[in-house]
Amino acid sequence: MTKFLIKGGRALEGEIEINGSKNAALPVLASSVLFKEKIEIENLPNIEDVKRMQELLDKLDADGRIDYEIAKKFRASILPVGAALARFGKVAFPHPGGCVIGERPIDVFLDGWKIMGAKTKLSKSAPADYEITAPEGLFGVDYTFKIPSVTGTEALIMTAVLAKGTTILRNAVLEPEIKYLADFLNANGAQIAGAGTTTIKIEGRSGKLLNYSTRFIVPPDRIEAGSFAILGALLGKNLRIKNFVAGELSTFLVLLFNVGVEYVLENNSIIFPAKGWSAFGGKDAYKKTLRASNVTTKEFPGFPTDLQAPFTILLTQAEGQSLVHETVFEGRLNYIQDLNKMGSRITLCDPHRAIVYGPTKLSGRALESPDIRAGLAFIIAGLIASGETSIGNIYQIERGYENIDYRLRSIGADIKQI
Ligand code: UD1
Repeated sequence: MTKFLIKGGRALEGEIEINGSKNAALPVLASSVLFKEKIEIENLPNIEDVKRMQELLDKLDADGRIDYEIAKKFRASILPVGAALARFGKVAFPHPGGCVIGERPIDVFLDGWKIMGAKTKLSKSAPADYEITAPEGLFGVDYTFKIPSVTGTEALIMTAVLAKGTTILRNAVLEPEIKYLADFLNANGAQIAGAGTTTIKIEGRSGKLLNYSTRFIVPPDRIEAGSFAILGALLGKNLRIKNFVAGELSTFLVLLFNVGVEYVLENNSIIFPAKGWSAFGGKDAYKKTLRASNVTTKEFPGFPTDLQAPFTILLTQAEGQSLVHETVFEGRLNYIQDLNKMGSRITLCDPHRAIVYGPTKLSGRALESPDIRAGLAFIIAGLIASGETSIGNIYQIERGYENIDYRLRSIGADIKQI
């Protein structure tokens, strides 16, 4: 079994770049189903979820069968389903897999396809959980999301592109990935207005596929950017993080400032100066006073749920009591038990709220990565802990972060795969 082995307490210096965004790349890859020709994507991150999406799309045939085993490996396997339904008139797929961070239903997708004219049945014959057909084609509708969903918004935009007539999606999410997808599709002939607002209008093409003309350049990953910034806050010694899009992380940056972290934004970079390290790292570790701060996760432009676990690691080093309120997912505080075994003092109040008492010294332990984001949080914890930390189940981390050990080693981290 491959594991990451980490020795904590080393300064992180020099430069590191943010790679292409997983959550921007996946919907654009899925959108290839809407095209007549192959599409070109630049700056695609070399991560497991992207590889799975490519395999899934390679296997997709005119019967609309989504591969069961592959789809069970990641949640975003739901992304090409609506496009396949609109293109082939039928689709069969399993309930998507992915991070175990609470119940993850797909009702907003199913409701959308249903009112667009599709018929869903739960499949009795493996390997598919759902079989959806739309023999008459799909029709443009006025649809309101009962809860805001990122991949739900993306999937229904893609479905609506091939439907007959106009679709209006209300209570759509504002995440930047929606606009990236819509801009790419519009550059290739689609008519999508309002992406980046709560109301999106799509002119359907009555089954006419898009003609490829303009490539997609994957933007930097804002979650990787925020996670590396937390590392910079804790261990940075003149550390420059490049390709940092501050405008996509404004709430996160306000919180970082509230906690008392010093940073400089300059030319698409965020820099953590050496004085943070001299006060905080090395032998004087934990002497710098970071202040406790409450954090509540929210849809964009709120504080991203994907940065909640890494930020909690930072809060374990802050003076006072911080309340972490996870409002997006049910099971996203499950990693806290393991963190407490490393020495943090965190009380789980209920599945959504935890109180962090700080500062606390962390010490290395053997851990398993529970999901992509908590896995990276464990890497951060290992890097500030005394002694050695091992992290197993690293597939979960490699789903979302490219070559993470190699890249962190390049700025001075003691992390390797064994
Ligand atoms: C996307 C991101 C993920 C991020 C999440 C929230 C991708 C590939 N993944 O996931 O990194 O953590 O947004 O920012 O972009 N829900 C339902 N019914 C549904 C769909 C969702 O109840 O049909 C609920 C979910 O259980 C969750 C909430 O809605 O509580 C938000 O989930 P959603 O925005 O759909 O997350 P994803 O799109 O899966």
